[in-house]
Amino acid sequence: MKILKISLKNKSYDIYIDRNIVTSIGKYIRKIYSGKKIAVVTDSNVDKLYSNILIDSLSKEGFETSKLVIKAGERSKNLDTLKDIYKYFCESRIRRSDIIIALGGGVVGDITGFAASTYLRGVKYIQVPTTLLAQIDSSIGGKVAVDLTFGKNLVGNFYHPEAVFIDPEILNSLNSKFFNDGMGEVIKYGLINDKNFVQKLMNYKDKDELLCNIEEIIYTCCSVKKEIVQMDEFDTGERMKLNFGHTFGHAVEKIFNYEKYTHGECVALGMAYITERSEKRGYTKKGTYETIRRILNKYNLPCEMPEVDKRLLFEAITLDKKTQFDIINLILLKEIGKANIVKLKLQELKNYIDI
Ligand code: GLY
Repeated sequence: MKILKISLKNKSYDIYIDRNIVTSIGKYIRKIYSGKKIAVVTDSNVDKLYSNILIDSLSKEGFETSKLVIKAGERSKNLDTLKDIYKYFCESRIRRSDIIIALGGGVVGDITGFAASTYLRGVKYIQVPTTLLAQIDSSIGGKVAVDLTFGKNLVGNFYHPEAVFIDPEILNSLNSKFFNDGMGEVIKYGLINDKNFVQKLMNYKDKDELLCNIEEIIYTCCSVKKEIVQMDEFDTGERMKLNFGHTFGHAVEKIFNYEKYTHGECVALGMAYITERSEKRGYTKKGTYETIRRILNKYNLPCEMPEVDKRLLFEAITLDKKTQFDIINLILLKEIGKANIVKLKLQELKNYIDI
């Protein structure tokens, strides 16, 4: 088992990474929670596969559990589902001293974390991420949120879990689309921070070889995220680098109503799109875009921006949280493994997308 400790000013917590840890999760939770009651929130896909395993392990340790199943998919990450979660907490008589478990991918983790952060002004919660994307990114660092029709994650909070339990074995049940979704963010860590990691990902023969090394890959990504979050918990500096590819990515996700592309696919095409442009403008070292294109192709991720009205794209970008007044913090690569935060006026951003 690998354990990473996130140490922040007012809180610290462990990330446990181990195959099949869900089957014995109860005994680890017992070490950090002395109460009895646990509320589990999961989604309709994960429920069929893992709820019973998790709940059995909790019951063996004497915990009293209940469960709410929400509809799977990004479109559930909204205020209506949030209301359902609050209702479930009320009906289950959840108190501040109880604990909540988010069992699922990014949607379950984000919305359950947000509900936990606001219900009774804060109830403790635990993340049990079940997708690659959630295991290496969204379950760590305390960003919790719901989407509004105006854009993604527009209502949210910083609220860290008590622990994160990552079971790489679970990834064997992920279909390829969702595995690739996570790979978009895995590749991002290499591009912004570690050239050698990008090379390693390039060198894997196929998905099987990658899966044999998945624990190490998860550990590498979580270590990068841990360091960045410890440096900049509230996303005012270094942490913004994690948004590489997200400015255009989030906009595309929104324009296609969160249906056509996964988050990782949008991040992938966002990274390629912005790097193609920054390289043309002489900011990024020549050849960087080509490396990004090759690695995205290798993992079946898109690198072409779909046909969209540029004005819609611009409008979606200006609603994103990365925009402050008329300045946007755009993340650009100097070269593979080196990201910078570049402040652009919105007019300059328009030049980037030729409108
Ligand atoms: N997913 C980006 C962050 O946690 O800052």
